[in-house]
Amino acid sequence: MNLKKSWSNYLNSLKCSSTLIRAFGECESQVSMNSELTDFLKGLKQFGIENDIPNVTERGGRFLNMLVQMTGSKSGLEIGSANGYSTIWLAEAFRNNNGKLKSIDFSQPTHESAKENLNKAGLSDVVEFYFGNALEVIKAWNDQRFDFVFVDGEKRSYWDFWEVIQPFLADRAVIAFDDVLSFPEKTKPFMEKIKNVLGFDQVVLPIDKDDGVLLMTKTN
Ligand SMILES: C[S@@+](CC[C@H](N)C(=O)[O-])C[C@H]1O[C@@H](n2cnc3c(N)ncnc32)[C@H](O)[C@@H]1O
Repeated sequence: MNLKKSWSNYLNSLKCSSTLIRAFGECESQVSMNSELTDFLKGLKQFGIENDIPNVTERGGRFLNMLVQMTGSKSGLEIGSANGYSTIWLAEAFRNNNGKLKSIDFSQPTHESAKENLNKAGLSDVVEFYFGNALEVIKAWNDQRFDFVFVDGEKRSYWDFWEVIQPFLADRAVIAFDDVLSFPEKTKPFMEKIKNVLGFDQVVLPIDKDDGVLLMTKTN
């Protein structure tokens, strides 16, 4: 699906706001999900807050979930599973799309807790977890094409992640780089370079007061 078109359809469908941030704040019920999973996510988010796990915000999770569903993506990649909070938001959308997600993390305890949490969320059949440095793990793949990529690993490695995912992007792939606003000292060199990349549409979207994402779509 054309992301620009679906995004503008989405915005047009919101009757409650003049700004994107307000829209997200007032329209949280836009993502329908079973209440058991919603409760589990709330508990996991709280656990993350109490244990300093840098999970996306709830709104960030909802945004990712909607984006995957809006684009009809079927083959996803996440760099940086942490304990699986964003993975669950993504996986729920991929399940609805009859798709699959691969998620990579290089911290063993984190990788184990992500697998456990996806099991608890009843979504483990949607996700294939990989343990290791994403830069090495991805290089070892062949015959892979992703139509959706969420990058949330080490901020200083964003350019390296960008380079390594190139051969694996499907036509019209959507790529979301998290946290591009709140860590300028870490992401600025990447942002300076990426804006000169041809063949992709790009937009930076503030999601909430926590941070924003750089969204890219492959235009050829
Ligand atoms: C910000 S956290 C991810 C949060 C998660 N996406 C969420 O919202 O629930 C970053 C994670 O990326 C992992 N990570 C960072 N650089 C990585 C790399 N090069 N390869 C694999 N994992 C990486 C870290 O171990 C950490 O768990």
